[in-house]
Amino acid sequence: MLVQDNRLTLPSDQDASGRTLGETEIQFLSEAIRSGTLTSTKGTFVKQLEQDFSALIGVKYAYACASGSAAVHTAIAAIDPEPGDEIITTSITDMGALTPILYQTAIPVFADVDPRTWNVTAESIEKCISDRTKAIIVTHLFGNPCEMTEIMALANARGIPVIEDSAQGFWPPITANPLAALAVLGVLVCSKANTSRLEKAELSPPTTMP
Ligand SMILES: Cc1ncc(COP(=O)(O)O)c(C=O)c1O
Repeated sequence: MLVQDNRLTLPSDQDASGRTLGETEIQFLSEAIRSGTLTSTKGTFVKQLEQDFSALIGVKYAYACASGSAAVHTAIAAIDPEPGDEIITTSITDMGALTPILYQTAIPVFADVDPRTWNVTAESIEKCISDRTKAIIVTHLFGNPCEMTEIMALANARGIPVIEDSAQGFWPPITANPLAALAVLGVLVCSKANTSRLEKAELSPPTTMP
């Protein structure tokens, strides 16, 4: 969030100011296109991105997907819910984080958000847990981190896997460590909101992003 004229404003993908995409990205794009190999299995850029990303955020595996929705879908498919299993999620999120639950025949159960942070809390998640709960999705809304210590303690005590949806910011400046590396499965989207972090970390090459 930005403070302008003493008012909080939300970032907009319609506003190009602050973007730092430039010659380096064009150079990598041109290199990828000229290589003639645009598949992720034979090309080298996606593999490099995955390796650099897992090293950057300190996880064993990172897989690039075509979109955030595809990444959430992949994470839920890995959890493999039975029809009618419940997946606890947040009441404020993008549709792309909800449709994969339905695609996988599970039922979204909406935990309340804290009116101050707009994020789910361990307390609101706990109220939604049932014997059909198969997973918990937490979303760091607007890049504002959820209370992961409490949430992971709750989930670990019950053996419920947590999917961390960091599509709106995986490493906000207020946290020392990256988000999305705290839960069993993390989802990241490399959008305007977090490319500056990537550049700071000198992750290369910034090419076709999940
Ligand atoms: C929290 C959250 N999850 C998932 C998605 C889906 O990402 P995509 O639009 O890349 O499919 C978004 C998109 O804005 C999002 O904000």
